[in-house]
Amino acid sequence: MNDPVLQAIRSRRVVRAMTRDPVQQDQLKTVLDSARYAPHAGNRRLHRYVAVTRPRILRALRMVSPGMLQRPAAAVVVCVDWARVESYGFHPASPGPYIDVGTAAATMLLAAHGIGLAAGPVTSFSRTAAATILNLPEGLRPELIVCLGHPAAEQPPAVRRQNGPAWEDLIQWDRG
Ligand SMILES: Cc1cc2nc3c(=O)[nH]c(=O)nc-3n(C[C@H](O)[C@H](O)[C@H](O)COP(=O)(O)O)c2cc1C
Repeated sequence: MNDPVLQAIRSRRVVRAMTRDPVQQDQLKTVLDSARYAPHAGNRRLHRYVAVTRPRILRALRMVSPGMLQRPAAAVVVCVDWARVESYGFHPASPGPYIDVGTAAATMLLAAHGIGLAAGPVTSFSRTAAATILNLPEGLRPELIVCLGHPAAEQPPAVRRQNGPAWEDLIQWDRG
């Protein structure tokens, strides 16, 4: 099938080698704007997005993020406003806010891919240290970082789909 949405889904890859070229402001805004189109539990919008472009802050974030293998030119830190989660009566253990981090991140990754940017998610980082670096207010906790930049010519080998399962291997039809 040649559907452009399916093509984008299939061709997107996590990029872990980026050039030093900056991400243009309008490109960053496009990625940020895409997040609000992601589906959110109860349509509550309990997330906040911190856009980071200052090299000093990016370097500091990288220092507390073992999973950030790339050197991004920009980053979007997806935060959950846990104070608002509580005020809306969500149970703190409710999976909704975390699932929403995933839907927002997946949407931003695809948006970045759509406009030719390289992108990669990172969850391996110190939440406490990142919150301090970003001077986040009480109740707001960083949960995922979307790294953004331009793809380097040389990329490390892809982690996924080398001898990976076929989609049929992951599906069980009509159980029960
Ligand atoms: C919730 C989540 C957390 C992830 N955390 C990291 C991370 O900390 N560092 C990293 O390099 N990749 C991270 N990834 C990227 C995955 O490793 C990547 O999606 C997987 O290798 C498949 O690659 P592909 O998306 O290019 O097909 C994360 C992905 C998800 C969905």
